[in-house]
Amino acid sequence: MKIQSSFPFFDDESIDKILPDIKKALSSGVLTGGPYTKEFESKFAQYVGAKHAVAVNSGTSNLEIAMRYFGVKDREVIVPTNTFVATPNAVVFAGGKPVFADIREDTLCIDPQDVEHRITPKTVGLIVVHLAGLICPQIEELVKVCKDHDLFLLEDCSHAHGAMIDNRMAGTLGDAGCFSFYSTKVMTTGEGGMLTTQDADLAEAARMMRDHGQNSQRLMVRLGHNWCMSEIAAILGLHQLEQLEFFVHRRNEIAKLYDSLLKDVKGVSLFKTPPNIRHSYYKYPVKLDAGIDKEKIAATLKAKYGVETGSIYYPPCHLHPFYMENFGARKGDLPRAESVLKQVMCLPLHAGLSNEAARYVAEAFAYSLNGQGV
Ligand SMILES: Cc1ncc(COP(=O)(O)O)c(C=O)c1O
Repeated sequence: MKIQSSFPFFDDESIDKILPDIKKALSSGVLTGGPYTKEFESKFAQYVGAKHAVAVNSGTSNLEIAMRYFGVKDREVIVPTNTFVATPNAVVFAGGKPVFADIREDTLCIDPQDVEHRITPKTVGLIVVHLAGLICPQIEELVKVCKDHDLFLLEDCSHAHGAMIDNRMAGTLGDAGCFSFYSTKVMTTGEGGMLTTQDADLAEAARMMRDHGQNSQRLMVRLGHNWCMSEIAAILGLHQLEQLEFFVHRRNEIAKLYDSLLKDVKGVSLFKTPPNIRHSYYKYPVKLDAGIDKEKIAATLKAKYGVETGSIYYPPCHLHPFYMENFGARKGDLPRAESVLKQVMCLPLHAGLSNEAARYVAEAFAYSLNGQGV
């Protein structure tokens, strides 16, 4: 038995639907910037409830586009330390300084109180990451902090396709949303990303920046890059988007099953989702009691039971050598993130995981922790 921590969902039926579109694109000769990309952008914008959606070649690219648009050069941007390094890196690539903030233990998302402490005259914006697919439950507080201090609010929605709070979708809660379609994500195009916004100026700038900063007359009016999405990726995106509600629903079913199987297992605590939030369950994180060696449990699960697990994220960004060497971050700077994330691990979760496989994972996890089943 081998159970992967994540796996893209392309069953035979969806592959059969995708192939004729790929054939059509290949024989049309239009492989980039064509009708499939436009259709994907328009359907994604509609799904999320944003006025504009701009497709790019990765989540990293659209984060950098947003940072360049918001003018972070020589300014500070507050970023949760608990994220993939792509988030702060986008600030650095755009010439700014990421200032890491601590997280809340109950959500693993950024802590609004710590954010307030880190605002300086140089702060220009804030990035919130809906970690594991949980919309940051304190998003309204963050919106208010940004309004009060005249900061931009960018949502890194790389984990949060289809996630909602009070029936409002991730990607519509701040000034812009940045989605990743990397192959492990809730929906994928292999590599790809989408920027959502209500701001027509930002959308126009993003369209230019993804194409070397050229305007519609092909004049280069700002610095850009080749960040375009290919038509083949857009075709995958269109078909995955059609299944996104099913993906989110199925991920929630599996998470509920894990919840019920693991609730009484000694040594582990589960995370709760507030009732006004629809989680997208990109990941299913659990927290091991202090003193339990996470690496040892993960190694046992893999070697003895064939179960692959993940972490989200350890080390936190500020403890990566690059940030310690170049931005002066030190161990102990963000104590909550450092202690909590050391004990957090993620169980396998993807739309194609069967209930039987999820039960096997829960059983193997309980045995690895306590030497007895659930
Ligand atoms: C939170 C977060 N931000 C940004 C990214 C970057 O996305 P991509 O891999 O599509 O460049 C990822 C994904 O890998 C991510 O998980």
